[in-house]
Amino acid sequence: MKDFKNKVAVITGAGSGFGREFARIAADRGMRLVLADVQADALKLVVDELRTRGAHVIGEQVDVSKAEQVEHLANRTYSEFGASHLLFNNAGVASGGLIWESSLKDWEWVMGVNVMGVVHGIHFFIPRMITQGDQCHVVNTASVAGLLSAQTMGVYNVSKHSVVTLSETLFHDLRVSESKIGVSVLCPAFVPTGISESHRNRPSDLANDAPLTDSQRAAQQASSKAVSSGKITAQSVAETTFSAVEANQFYIVTHAKIMQSVHLRLDDVRHLRNPSDPFAYKPDAAYPVK
Ligand SMILES: NC(=O)c1ccc[n+]([C@@H]2O[C@H](COP(=O)([O-])OP(=O)(O)OC[C@H]3O[C@@H](n4cnc5c(N)ncnc54)[C@H](O)[C@@H]3O)[C@@H](O)[C@H]2O)c1
Repeated sequence: MKDFKNKVAVITGAGSGFGREFARIAADRGMRLVLADVQADALKLVVDELRTRGAHVIGEQVDVSKAEQVEHLANRTYSEFGASHLLFNNAGVASGGLIWESSLKDWEWVMGVNVMGVVHGIHFFIPRMITQGDQCHVVNTASVAGLLSAQTMGVYNVSKHSVVTLSETLFHDLRVSESKIGVSVLCPAFVPTGISESHRNRPSDLANDAPLTDSQRAAQQASSKAVSSGKITAQSVAETTFSAVEANQFYIVTHAKIMQSVHLRLDDVRHLRNPSDPFAYKPDAAYPVK
């Protein structure tokens, strides 16, 4: 997709981090915008900012884990703008800790937002994009956690590996259907955003009853430190993503050095070796268990 002017961008998780930067760039490129987020106050700030800059913007409070809310988002997009061209399935949350200590509510919350949120975006938008017949593009936000399996990030890793295979399968399904819709999967490493405070939007019915375990507390601290000390900005990730959409590039890995670890994992699979330490090249970044 190379022509953005007057086209319609739909962005989930638009109230903060990458989603907010996608929205700013889309507005700069003259796109009409449908912005969705579960956090109403953060969403309103972005909608107001972009309207002040003259953009045509709809803001909708949406929990992407709820099918009926994403369906409503798609209905509203098509009733107000008659089309969608660039869909960012971006909303996401994180939790950490040893995998057997993660609660079933951790699984339900993270998989609900990170996986079912993307599934809902695909389910309610892709058929309409196909009918539309225009050149369109979908960007699913995964993570390098979708290409690696780092310790004490199990629930998040499973959710992001799911987004990678969902995106690869979508790519192939669109290819065999001879569709004009492009796909990219965004896989950043740590970037300063609100991701390590994602519990701020955790629904009360999925809150944990038990206090944090040592590994969960350590993972939370390590995540806050790694995210806040990330050197690449959310704005830069969003710019790289728009360039990839223009180039119809599928895999978007924003942190080049992490590819060493990805290659190590792929070599493990190729040689049927037991898994190497994903932090072998950056031991200081490894999450402790205590
Ligand atoms: N920041 C990083 O280091 C990093 C690295 C790799 C991948 N990611 C991924 O990037 C995406 C964006 O995260 P971010 O880093 O910008 O974090 P962020 O917390 O700044 O932004 C995420 C946004 O998603 C929204 N959100 C949370 N739950 C939602 C729900 N149920 N429905 C709708 N919106 C919801 C939040 O309110 C927030 O505005 C996520 O999928 C995250 O997993 C982040």
